[in-house]
Amino acid sequence: SVLPSTVSRAELIDFEGISMVHYFTDNWENIQNFQARPEDILIATYPKAGTTWVSNTLDLLYFGKTDQERQSSLPIYLRVPFLEMAFPGMPLGVELADKLPTTPRLIKTHLPVQLVPKSFWEQNCRVVYVARNAKDTAVSFFHFDRMNMSQPDPGDWNTFLMKFMDGKMVFGPWYDHVCGYWEKKQTYSNMHYMFFEQMAKDTGREVAHLCSFLGLSTPVEERERITEAVHFDVMKQNNMTNFTGVSFLDFKISPFMRKGKVGDWKTHFTVAQNEQFDEHYRQKMKSTTLQFQTEI
Ligand code: A3P
Repeated sequence: SVLPSTVSRAELIDFEGISMVHYFTDNWENIQNFQARPEDILIATYPKAGTTWVSNTLDLLYFGKTDQERQSSLPIYLRVPFLEMAFPGMPLGVELADKLPTTPRLIKTHLPVQLVPKSFWEQNCRVVYVARNAKDTAVSFFHFDRMNMSQPDPGDWNTFLMKFMDGKMVFGPWYDHVCGYWEKKQTYSNMHYMFFEQMAKDTGREVAHLCSFLGLSTPVEERERITEAVHFDVMKQNNMTNFTGVSFLDFKISPFMRKGKVGDWKTHFTVAQNEQFDEHYRQKMKSTTLQFQTEI
């Protein structure tokens, strides 16, 4: 495993109006100038929306049949590089992406839509955006920040929830992120906007939708095999998808593959927090047609 002993909890900084940590801005010039290719597929998400789930699904759809060695020997963060990643002692996300030998290249980003390198739009790349309801995202992000020693300290749950509502999160406000891509989709047709809740409800159907967006004619048996392979329990056991070996993740505090559920927010939000959150949410989301399910 890689041991970047210099990775430690970073402070939030303001970066072009977005709360960030330096690990995702240190390589900014190279990120901004990243040269996308027309076949590249950008997997864009707010953190904790199911990025890893959809990344693994796409990797299996493209390379599951032809390159099984890849799935059994390369962790997901090497198969699907995280573009803005710049952790000391680890390869840069941009370098990993540049070196990917595959076509298409699958590339992950958490950048809000206005910060995505412009070559992705110029090359008319396919973009798969995954969104997850705000409440479950907040809970998942809280546990992630507890165990991820590169992230700002989350504090207690109430403190964290107030920061979430305030947009004082790495990659900025959830509200602007999900709405920003939703608006972009109105004019950029090569985007597939999908939901964690739908993946959880009927993975097979979402895999079929992905295939039609990607123009893949994956046979139904293969789609079924992939649907099994991306099940929570399977991915949790799989060291190539559960982030085992990343030294700054403390699995004693919380696993990366934590629960994988829709509606876990109910075990965290108090009645008062829920009322306050709902009221604030209505304000924030009043001018969008975007709708989320918080239970299935
Ligand atoms: P929880 O913390 O709610 O369990 P990301 O990959 O964007 O960081 O998202 C991580 C979240 O997605 C975690 O949510 C994780 O458990 C969940 N997840 C990852 N793989 C999953 C799968 N195969 N099925 C269901 N949930 C999954």
